[in-house]
Amino acid sequence: MNHLTDWTDLPDAVWEACLDRARWHRAHPAWTRAAAGRALGLLFFNPSLRTRTSMDVAAAALGAHAVTLSPGQGVWGLEWRDDARMDGEAAEHVREAVGVLSRYVAALGVRTFATLADREADHADAAFRAVVAASSVPVVNLESARWHPCQALADAAAVCDTLGDPRGQKFVLSWAPHPKALPRAVPNSAVVMAARLGMEVVVARPPGFELDGDVLDFARQAAARSGGSVTESEDQHAALSGARVVYAKAWSGGAVYDDPGAEAARRAGHADWRITEAALGRTAGAAFMHCLPVRRGVVVDGDVLDGPNAVHLLQAEYRLWAQKAVLEWIWEVRG
Ligand code: CP
Repeated sequence: MNHLTDWTDLPDAVWEACLDRARWHRAHPAWTRAAAGRALGLLFFNPSLRTRTSMDVAAAALGAHAVTLSPGQGVWGLEWRDDARMDGEAAEHVREAVGVLSRYVAALGVRTFATLADREADHADAAFRAVVAASSVPVVNLESARWHPCQALADAAAVCDTLGDPRGQKFVLSWAPHPKALPRAVPNSAVVMAARLGMEVVVARPPGFELDGDVLDFARQAAARSGGSVTESEDQHAALSGARVVYAKAWSGGAVYDDPGAEAARRAGHADWRITEAALGRTAGAAFMHCLPVRRGVVVDGDVLDGPNAVHLLQAEYRLWAQKAVLEWIWEVRG
């Protein structure tokens, strides 16, 4: 049974096959009946525009039927902690809920954001893992506390379409300001994605906003196989020099778990990390990337998003083609 939980489920050969297939689907957008007779459950513990819509359409384009469930919003609130005494809002445990859903559907897509309150649970991807453990059908990660593999696959396809051969080209993952503390699943996934493509990856971020060491180690292992590299910089201006891709993303500082007030104050102090036309002008004509949703004038200026170098809509479009490829892989069909 093929799951897509994290990068370990996507060894290089599977990753490359899905990437090729996503690009093939964009060139051949026909709907088929390859997965007719199958249902796909989509369990969203958190909001979504792109993931929810693109998974629904991807399933339909393969002839499958998607059912979207948002716990606590017309669906029973769900608990995932094994040791929880369930006297709060949650009426049902994922052990029962996912056990039942597994009897109705042929695969489950699941979104469970980081809590940003429980460091150990977030680091272990505990909520998402609880769903996987309870499921008897394949599970697709639609953004967990640590990873967003469908986003990474779509981003990789967009990079390849934009640059041609991305190997050896400079990819800057730039931390960006944001009024809220945000999870790290996207930046974690982006750095591994670009490393897998053999790019010269620079993670530019202020002090206190380091990505986890095990994520960087994993990305460096991928880079070692692909001929790429992964470094860090606290100097955004210097990092942007020579960049062919600028991937902006806000994420929370490590202090968010211990001292959220201090983390918020530190984050507010770096508003000048916003991506502007002037910042993009320091690059080698870089493509601008963002996973969306994005706050104009906070993360990036509107003229960058509206300008000729922005490829954020292509990234979002590729979610559909990438997820068609993922559904084909987990169901072992060919659309
Ligand atoms: N990028 C992304 O996952 O978008 P949504 O949160 O809208 O699904």
